Amino acid sequence: MNLILLGAPGAGKGTQAEIICEKLNIPAISTGNMIREAMKNGTEMGQKAKSFVEGGNLVPDEVVIGIIKERLALEDCQKGFILDGFPRTVPQAEALDKMGVRIDRVIDIEVPDAKIEERLSGRRVCEKCGASYHVLYKPSAKGEQCAKCGGNLIIRKDDQPATIKERLKIYHEQTEPLRGYYGRTGKLVTVQGQEDIAETSRLTLAAVEA
Ligand code: AP5
Repeated sequence: MNLILLGAPGAGKGTQAEIICEKLNIPAISTGNMIREAMKNGTEMGQKAKSFVEGGNLVPDEVVIGIIKERLALEDCQKGFILDGFPRTVPQAEALDKMGVRIDRVIDIEVPDAKIEERLSGRRVCEKCGASYHVLYKPSAKGEQCAKCGGNLIIRKDDQPATIKERLKIYHEQTEPLRGYYGRTGKLVTVQGQEDIAETSRLTLAAVEA
């Protein structure tokens, strides 16, 4: 099964990608995580991406398309994959089509903007392994430390209120048109994502299995 998860920043794509990955045993590919890892390691791409990410802007299409092309060529994607955060612009979706990648389903997780702001301002991530938590909705069993590796939990730079607003603006301008793009293929399923994580994952898994 080759899946795309669409949705606004903070809609819960990463959370649901992790759940589907465990359930179907296929890799969850997050361009956001790959870019953050490159920034942490100070690679050439990471250095180029830093100012875009921290300002809440999208990284240029050609950079992200290159990352995805290399990642999808790896062996573990041959039995299926979940794309979390890619494509995010119409040119990225067109590039995926040009690569000849078959997509079985596109799941759009719909969450109102006001809820997004609440979710992102309460998100904490592990600075060591990148695991994601929420102070109210998904607290770490180890308090201020990561339940998986014991690393410190921090606030992402792009989760500051002004940057969240910028990310939402860019989402509405550049990513939302993908609903129309995939709607025309008949593969788009919309899932209401404003309920808690368990209910959203019930709806998302039903959409995957439909
Ligand atoms: P990326 O990391 O992909 O950021 P994003 O799309 O803005 O998504 P988030 O990670 O913020 O949110 P999410 O939807 O995964 O939500 P989560 O599950 O964490 O990208 C970062 C940056 O990299 C971009 O801004 C851009 O610069 C660059 N980039 C990445 N891909 C790119 C591309 N293709 N093209 C160009 N640039 C690209 O949930 C959010 C919080 O809510 C968590 O705390 C979670 O615990 C909580 N939560 C989740 N679900 C629920 C629920 N149902 N109820 C209550 N709380 C919930």
